[in-house]
Amino acid sequence: MGEVILSSKNLVKTYRNGKDRLIVLDGININIVSGSINTIVGESGSGKSTLLNVLSSLDSFDQGDLVIDGKDIKSLSEEGLSKFRNRTIGFIFQFHHLLPDFTVNENILMPIWIKSGYKKNQESLNLLDDFGLIKLKDKYPNEISGGERQRVAIIRAIINNPKIIFADEPSGNLDEKNSIKLIDLFKTINRDYGTTILLTTHNPQIASIGSKVFELKSGELKEK
Ligand SMILES: Nc1ncnc2c1ncn2[C@@H]1O[C@H](COP(=O)(O)OP(=O)(O)OP(=O)(O)O)[C@@H](O)[C@H]1O
Ligand SMILES: [Mg+2]
Repeated sequence: MGEVILSSKNLVKTYRNGKDRLIVLDGININIVSGSINTIVGESGSGKSTLLNVLSSLDSFDQGDLVIDGKDIKSLSEEGLSKFRNRTIGFIFQFHHLLPDFTVNENILMPIWIKSGYKKNQESLNLLDDFGLIKLKDKYPNEISGGERQRVAIIRAIINNPKIIFADEPSGNLDEKNSIKLIDLFKTINRDYGTTILLTTHNPQIASIGSKVFELKSGELKEK
């Protein structure tokens, strides 16, 4: 067993609903081993997106503890947290969120501009080349397919060399062929860079790439 890169203890997350409270996460305990692929399944509305947002430190929680890469998330200031995220974490959302007015290459470079204020053009081009997407470099998001957009979003998520990638339903609107390409891309990134991956999915084929598969049900997470 490798070292644990993410650990949560009794995480609770509720949403206010008028004067009621909806308990979405009811004591989540999870340990994620560095360099592993982990998948989370669960019915629609079971809280998968909420869980991913909380575990990736994008969203707050009501109770419990969360430690990522040795950092106690509750102890970080707003600014510290945002620096930590930029350095440690990559995100891929269900809908690709590429910026429409920038080319593929510029979209990939965006996190680097934010992080260090300068271009690492060659790194982006190398990644596009490695993953067979170099011909897309000067195209705009609306000039490429949905599957290609999703793969570009994954490359953008790894350009800063994150330790963990969180992906919420990355195959949500892809067909079978593109889903398989997406699985291959995740596996390659995991193998070549040792990046830890945590993703949610409705697709059993994608879920099966996890060395651990979890199910979220009634606010609790169980390993399948
Ligand atoms: N911002 C919010 N405020 C109040 N309730 C919310 C909020 N976001 C989500 N919920 C509720 O929390 C529950 C979990 O939602 P969540 O989006 O995490 O589920 P999910 O498992 O990702 O669903 P899906 O598979 O459809 O994406 C749902 O009942 C939802 O209505
Ligand atoms: Mg969701």
